[in-house]
Amino acid sequence: MRANKGLAGLIAGDTTISKVDVTTNSLWYRGYDINELCAKTSFLEVAYLLLHEDLPTSSQLKEFETFERANRNIPKSMYDAFKNMPHYAHPMDLLKIGVSMLGSFDEENSLGTNTHEQNLRKAMLLLSKMPTVVANSYRISKGLEPVEPDSDLSYSENFLSMISGEKTNDPLSVKTLDNSLILYAEHGYNASTFSARVTAATLSDLYNAVSSAIGTLKGPLHGGANEQVMYMLQEIETPERAREYTMKKIENKEKIMGFGHRLYRTGDSRTEVIKKLGQQLAEQKGITKWHEISSIMEETMIAEKKIYPNLDFPAATAYYLLGIPIELYTPIFAASRITGWAAHILEQHDDNRLIRPGCEYVGPTARKVKALEQRV
Ligand SMILES: CC(C)(COP(=O)(O)OP(=O)(O)OC[C@H]1O[C@@H](n2cnc3c(N)ncnc32)[C@H](O)[C@@H]1OP(=O)(O)O)[C@@H](O)C(=O)NCCC(=O)NCCS
Repeated sequence: MRANKGLAGLIAGDTTISKVDVTTNSLWYRGYDINELCAKTSFLEVAYLLLHEDLPTSSQLKEFETFERANRNIPKSMYDAFKNMPHYAHPMDLLKIGVSMLGSFDEENSLGTNTHEQNLRKAMLLLSKMPTVVANSYRISKGLEPVEPDSDLSYSENFLSMISGEKTNDPLSVKTLDNSLILYAEHGYNASTFSARVTAATLSDLYNAVSSAIGTLKGPLHGGANEQVMYMLQEIETPERAREYTMKKIENKEKIMGFGHRLYRTGDSRTEVIKKLGQQLAEQKGITKWHEISSIMEETMIAEKKIYPNLDFPAATAYYLLGIPIELYTPIFAASRITGWAAHILEQHDDNRLIRPGCEYVGPTARKVKALEQRV
């Protein structure tokens, strides 16, 4: 029996966390449509939904938010460790190191047990601390002072403020980041979530499963695509060059970042919300060229290849207009996806079996070992 390359079309397990419906190109978190979640809830409500299986009541949300705001700080020695890293270290690698350090600082993690309650607590700690790791490991690598988290600010206000170094509470900016975090939070058995589940299934702990996931998310075919999209838009520079650039890539059979998806073949329902918010930001700032370039690329790709943009395409422009440094786009994706990863790690640990597929051996067989001097 031969496997499909990339395991395409294979069902690798059951989940109650999200449904990717390819017939309608829609995405549902625990039965709720993501577009309705964007319109009516905050990222923290969605985080609660993913971790606790339903939306919170107002008192449950208050308790959840109180925990999140109270646990944003990270140990000072982590700042010293970041200061000792070379300035060229990739922010995703710093985030992976940061998550590993947080695991080492969490005494409960040394117990070697993975109860539901322990996993929930670890997930909440990472949810609370990852923005601080993302923003401040980056700031330190740029020779800037770290910014302490501000517990008076909402999750997204605080995240934006730590990145920019100044208090940011413009409602459109905060809503754009918050909605993007909802859209990035969860997506079934995507590559990083699958690697988190494989690690968790060995009964390794949540911090290590998340470290595996961060390493997987970094790649440009997965989370790293949002950064590559912005570098590409910068390279194109003007709307006049967009069609020619796209056509050349198509002729050379090169991949265009931010387009295509393993599951969605006729569009990605996550794109519309963030595209609209990005357009509003563009109008607010009077910078429309990125959307003009994007529209031409989208039209060309659909007409020539019938390949549609995925979430990373409009998210890149929205983040650029928010003033977020390009190297932080994928770490921000990770700070959101911690919710989906953790929900999957909980689901795996709660009903575990080691994940260990077989493979078909197709190499040479029954060879005799020659003595070293006889080998040529
Ligand atoms: C997401 C992705 C990895 C899915 O890959 P996949 O399901 O393995 O699909 P394939 O790479 O086999 O692509 C199928 C065909 O579409 C083409 N294609 C897919 N995505 C493309 C893209 N972004 N640009 C140009 N062509 C693309 C492939 O070249 C291939 O064409 P061929 O059959 O003529 O060889 C792929 O679409 C991609 O690399 N996209 C760019 C990276 C990206 O945006 N990633 C974020 C995903 S959310």
